[in-house]
Amino acid sequence: MSLLRLPGLVDPHVHLRDPGARHKEDWDSGTAAALAGGFTTVLDMPNNTPPIVDEAALAQKEAAARARARCDYGLYLGAGPNNAGEAARLAPRAAGLKLYLDATFGPLCLSDLDSLRAHCATWPADRPLLAHAEGRTIPALLFVAEVYDRAVHLCHISRRDEIELIATAKARGVKVTCEVCPHHLFLTLDSSGLGPGFVEVRPRLAAQSDVDALWAHLDIIDCFATDHAPHTRAEKDGASPPPGYPGLETALPLWLAAVSSGRLTLDDVVARMHANPRRIFGLPNQPDTWIDVDPDLVWTIRADEAQTRCGWTPFEGWTVRGKVTAVTLRGAAAYDGERVLAAPGAGQNVRESIG
Ligand code: DOR
Ligand code: ZN
Ligand code: ZN
Repeated sequence: MSLLRLPGLVDPHVHLRDPGARHKEDWDSGTAAALAGGFTTVLDMPNNTPPIVDEAALAQKEAAARARARCDYGLYLGAGPNNAGEAARLAPRAAGLKLYLDATFGPLCLSDLDSLRAHCATWPADRPLLAHAEGRTIPALLFVAEVYDRAVHLCHISRRDEIELIATAKARGVKVTCEVCPHHLFLTLDSSGLGPGFVEVRPRLAAQSDVDALWAHLDIIDCFATDHAPHTRAEKDGASPPPGYPGLETALPLWLAAVSSGRLTLDDVVARMHANPRRIFGLPNQPDTWIDVDPDLVWTIRADEAQTRCGWTPFEGWTVRGKVTAVTLRGAAAYDGERVLAAPGAGQNVRESIG
């Protein structure tokens, strides 16, 4: 295949840890990783320290991103037990509202029905509402969203029963979209080869039958997100390892390897990494933003050659085919295949650029 020019990729699900845990990642290193992976817009999750549930925390994160982001970005608000009104007031500044319906990394977890109802009733109908929901919290959320007649986006779907339920819901006209992550399509719990600590991720890696069901339901999957969730090697090796994998620099090559082997088409990839996330999250059209990709370049994934600060990858040593050779962000050279050229501060907040 000849060199490809694709629109800038959008990752609707990253954790860049800034503010709160800059030793794992920050806006500088995380958006450098994004550009090296072909992403020109990333939407960042609210489970920071402190969590992004009020105006003070949002303002602090806006300032951090404005100072350090090298690519474009949006910031999610987190749904807390008592912030439905404040979240709705802050909606114009946010990429969306994230509901955590199951426990994961960080303190955000909506465990009571009243708060779930309050957020579904109050968050503006035309702004994205998305959820970390696993197993039985998925139908709970779908029902509440139906009752309030609003669309929801389900993050990181990983299991057969979940994707089958979403397929049925979509067939019945429920307004639901979903994403999957590379680690849930390329790794299983039994065969990942990852040691204790390093295997930890939420949702957990699943069985081969789950992976097969996800591949079989490709038409139901709207987005390929990364859930880039860096934690350092020392933390993953420690006594209580936090869950999460880095993913920004390995996602596109893994999907392109699936294109090479005939499992996906290039159109499948572009739809799920650009057109669909742009539509679902209401992002600006950027005709002067694109990436160049050599689809035949074979290379081996090495954490020590990556931009992310976390220092490891679950795909260490994998040989992949396809590499980003250049990124152009709003008309300016942002990555040349080896070096990130966009400076900290070059990134724009998508909510500020479209008002
Ligand atoms: O594995 C995960 N890590 N899953 C999540 O939902 C959160 C994330 C994190 O922030 O580390
Ligand atoms: Zn999650
Ligand atoms: Zn996440």
